[in-house]
Order: sequence, then C-alpha cells, then structure tokens
Amino acid sequence: MKYGVNEQGYYGDFGGAYIPEMLYPNVEELRQQYLTIINDDSFKAEFNQLLKDYVGRPSPLYYAKRYSEKYGANIFFKREDLNHTGSHKINNAIGQILLAKRLNKKRIIAETGAGQHGVATATVCALMGIECVVYMGEIDMARQAPNVSRMKMLGAKVVPATSGSKTLKDATNEALRDWIGNPVDTHYIIGSVVGPYPYPDMVARFQSIISLETKKQLFEHTGKELPEYVMACVGGGSNAMGMFYHFLDDESVKLVAVEAAGKGVDSGHSAATTFLGKEGVLHGSRTILMQTDDGQVVEPYSISAGLDYPGIGPQHAHLYKINRAQYVSVTDDEALQAGLLCCQLEGIIPAIETAHALAQLEKMKFSPTDNVVVCISGRGDKDLDTYIKYFGY
Ligand SMILES: Cc1ncc(COP(=O)(O)O)c(C=O)c1O
Repeated sequence: MKYGVNEQGYYGDFGGAYIPEMLYPNVEELRQQYLTIINDDSFKAEFNQLLKDYVGRPSPLYYAKRYSEKYGANIFFKREDLNHTGSHKINNAIGQILLAKRLNKKRIIAETGAGQHGVATATVCALMGIECVVYMGEIDMARQAPNVSRMKMLGAKVVPATSGSKTLKDATNEALRDWIGNPVDTHYIIGSVVGPYPYPDMVARFQSIISLETKKQLFEHTGKELPEYVMACVGGGSNAMGMFYHFLDDESVKLVAVEAAGKGVDSGHSAATTFLGKEGVLHGSRTILMQTDDGQVVEPYSISAGLDYPGIGPQHAHLYKINRAQYVSVTDDEALQAGLLCCQLEGIIPAIETAHALAQLEKMKFSPTDNVVVCISGRGDKDLDTYIKYFGY
C-alpha cells in the first residue's frame, strides 16, 4: 500500500514508537504479534461475526436526498452512528479486545474524550468479562455526562484526569502512566490512530471496514465504486482513516479531513492541528502537534470533546505533508449550526464531532454529478445538553 506504514513503523517522516523503557516490552510484544494475530483465520471469523451480529454491520450508506438538493451533488452518509454504542469507536474496540484475549491480558485500560471510545471499551470488556479502567478528563466528564453513567453501568471504573486542560490529552497521559505501572497483565486499548507504532496501523486496519463497505455500497447505489469526495472529522483521526483507507491508492478520490477550529484558528482557543501545529512527538509518535517554541504542548480547545486534541495521528500528518488529503477546519458555531441543519433536513441528530464534517459541505463547490460520502461518525445523544444550551430548546 503506497501510503501505508513501513517496517520501521513510519509514514514518511512520521510515526515510530517514542516510548519510555518500561513500556518497551508491551509495545514490542504488540509489534511482533499484531499482524499474525489479526490475519489469522479464527481471529477474522470472530471479528467479522461480532461486527455483524453485535455491532450491526454493515452500517448503511444512506443517500441524503435533501442534503443532495441543498448542496447540488449526490451526498451519501456512511451511518456509523447506527452502530451498537453509537459511533465508529466500537469497530476498533472489538478488534483490540479480541487481540488482548489472544495475548492473555487480564485487565484493560483506555482513554476517552467524548466518552464514545470509553463506552465502546467498557462494552467489549463487559462482553468478555474483563476488568476495565477508563481515564477521562474532568472537563469531558462534565460535558459528556451521559457517557460517564453508561460506562459505570457497563462495569467500568472511570478515573478523572485532573491535570492540564483536563481533556483528552491529559486522559491519554494518565492511561500511559497506568500502563507503565502495569506492564505485564494490562492491554491499553487506544481509541484513535495515535500512539506508538503499531497502534496507528492497527487501529486504521480495524476501522478500514468503513471504506471497505462504502466501496461496495456506493457501487450498488451508483454503479461506481469510487466517489469524487470522501469527508470526515478528525480528532486523532480514526473515523477519517477508516473512511479513507480503501480509497488512499485511488488518487481520483479527494480526501477531506475536518479539524476543530474551536472559537477560530487565531483565537487562542482552537484544536486546528495542521493549521497551528509543528512537527514533534506526542503520545509516542512523531507527528504534527500544537506546541510552543520550546516544544511544550499547547492546550487545545473545541466544544467537541472528541476533537479537543492537540495532535493528529502520524498517517494523517503524512497525508497532510504530501498533500494526499486536504485538511480544513470548522468553528464551534459552524459545527453546531450544521448539526441542527442535519436534524432538520435529514432527521438525524449527529454527534458534534460529526457535525464538523457536515459543516464543511457549506464551503465546498461541487458538480451536480459528484458523489460525496460523509462519515457520520456518531450520534448526538451524548451532546443534547450542549445543543440545548446553545440553541435554547
Ligand atoms: C462520534 C465521534 N466522532 C469522531 C471522534 C473523533 O475521533 P477520531 O478522530 O479518532 O475518529 C470521536 C471521538 O471521541 C467521536 O466520539
């Protein structure tokens, strides 16, 4: 694969595994085994069965008629919001719990921002009867409160991260700290295409089911496998990478990744990583991240907890640098308005993360024959409070 990872774990200048010595045995064990395990027939059979019967895949590719009329192109929604637990995060969580079982791990840890990855991880741990600890920023616990209760009901322990901006970055730091302290029996289910190699590649493979299905489904709709555009929001970048994966080598397909501009890219309250960031190391990989001149991470801001992250996965950094994908950003206000429009035109309440991808449609110029696929990464139940406060319903 032209844009895939090399044997050293790099995508061009980005990737690798920059980890403390204490984590080396864990990460090395994963690196040595992940491809053998996930390519094994019994693994594939169990993974695909659970995706079908438990998650409810394939998720539909829905022709959004009123959106198509509004934007003057054929707009399709890839409905990851209809998955069990309400987002794309469950695809990766199922893959990693099956892997953890095969590595004989007895305890699972995870970080979460919007809580969707935490809920997905708590769900698969309940399914498999494995202990689960989820780290979550204190601010995110308040703004995504329904997901905190869901995790607790599912039997997970939710530990608040109280340092820094008390959001996703800080939760990831805490999870890494836990892993360093529990290197033998614990597997860390990272929720996005971030972290040391092999995580970015492993998570992208588990999420690649999104584009695999889309190709087939688009052919059924239009007689063509390849759309003109695929679009997705980017926090760490897992729904976007899943949506891009099987289109990466099809150079005619334009890939659009939408970051969170927060209150505006120049406002000092933003998470528009490619616009504001520079090359450096974050959470174990070389990538693009928001940092000060002396390399300290800049606290990000977005109304959307899942996009409130100062970096992007290393494969995204590479696709950005070589111009294979276009990286743009959308403000809080633009996203919330787009979320409401989706409710009113299509009867779908999207997650605020997803609403960022939808907001970008306003800024695009399409031809009437263009086929455009937007990844609807998750549903908006968790965000009702934020929508209600903003619109005053
Ligand atoms: C619904 C939804 N979409 C998108 C994201 C962003 O994550 P990623 O960029 O890894 O897809 C999240 C993260 O929590 C989410 O819950």
